Amino acid sequence: MTADTQESASPPEAEAVVLVGGQGVRLRPLTLSAPKPMLPTAGVPFLSHLLSRIRAAGIEHVVLGTSYKAEVFEEHFGDGSDLGLHIEYVVEDEPLDTAGAIRNVADRLSAEDVVVFNGDILSGVDLGGLLRTHRSNRADVTLHLVEVADPHRFGCVPTDADGRVTAFLEKTDDPPVDQINAGCYVFRREVVESIPAGRPVSVERETFPGLLAAGARVQGHVDSSYWLDMGTPAAFVRGSADLVLGNAPSEALPGPTGQALVLGDAEIAPDAHVTGGSTVGAGSVVESGARVTGSVLFDGVRIGSGAVVERSVVGAGAVVGPGAELVDAVVGDGARVGEGCELRDGLRVWPEVDLPPNGVRFSAS
Ligand code: GTP
Repeated sequence: MTADTQESASPPEAEAVVLVGGQGVRLRPLTLSAPKPMLPTAGVPFLSHLLSRIRAAGIEHVVLGTSYKAEVFEEHFGDGSDLGLHIEYVVEDEPLDTAGAIRNVADRLSAEDVVVFNGDILSGVDLGGLLRTHRSNRADVTLHLVEVADPHRFGCVPTDADGRVTAFLEKTDDPPVDQINAGCYVFRREVVESIPAGRPVSVERETFPGLLAAGARVQGHVDSSYWLDMGTPAAFVRGSADLVLGNAPSEALPGPTGQALVLGDAEIAPDAHVTGGSTVGAGSVVESGARVTGSVLFDGVRIGSGAVVERSVVGAGAVVGPGAELVDAVVGDGARVGEGCELRDGLRVWPEVDLPPNGVRFSAS
């Protein structure tokens, strides 16, 4: 603990560590220019929504474990005082994976309980409730667990009648329970210090199974509030729309929302339709007759007349020509989609690519 982080003798009740060092491969090409937690989501960097929830839970000291594009976090959030937080940044020379990143910030922590967050989860979990579960069970680690409809896509985490975690199971076609790791944990600080230092370590593959094998108390906390892993383009547009529609909780929204969030000096033609929780970035233009639904337009985007944009992300400065159709597509920064082109089914256009106005249909599947 450095002198500037600890003014009183008694340690704070809980501190937060947010893991933001991943490369965000699944969200490329959007993550070529910005790390995933900094992508504009309902008008602010995604991380702002998480930080607002941490502050609302009464936690003030936040340590960001950074690696990929490390410098942009501090450039934006500074010391955190604008948000009522004290934010510190710890950069990994080489990515240390999730548990390695937690271990790497251990010397910045002084509280007994450390709440660790994956930096790409949008969640309404009651953090006070999570801490109460941890403390009342005198747990070494407590995991937020969520019940999902499609557990076979994840590793699952069974618990016993007392809520103790009994195993960490790999993905299988026939998972025994529908509970999965929600990417938010409370660690006793000594457990953080017991993680091997200076090498990559995964929480799910090494730390948690190792704790179970050693007989540690690993507690599950099932919470059924809003939860979404924003790691894929489909999830990213859904989460952004849920924030704008008010389905996902946040105190960081930059303005009035509803069917759409229109930022700064964006222009929307009177006969264009922008709905379904879409965000229109500052300086963007949506021309006559265009229809934008459940989508995210970054800053400086132009959507041509009569174009259709559904559940898609359009990167900064990109242009979508008149009559083009984007459905479940990702268009990188500065790309140009020619008049009448159709992009569907998860197709991704790389930054600055110029798709000619030939009306061709492109599909990723
Ligand atoms: P993909 O490459 O698309 O899988 O995304 P990702 O790199 O973010 O990986 P993943 O979603 O598995 O990571 C979960 C969380 O841990 C995210 O918030 C990442 O930023 C973070 N994370 C992953 N690896 C590292 C790492 O090596 N160091 C740090 N500091 N954070 C990491």
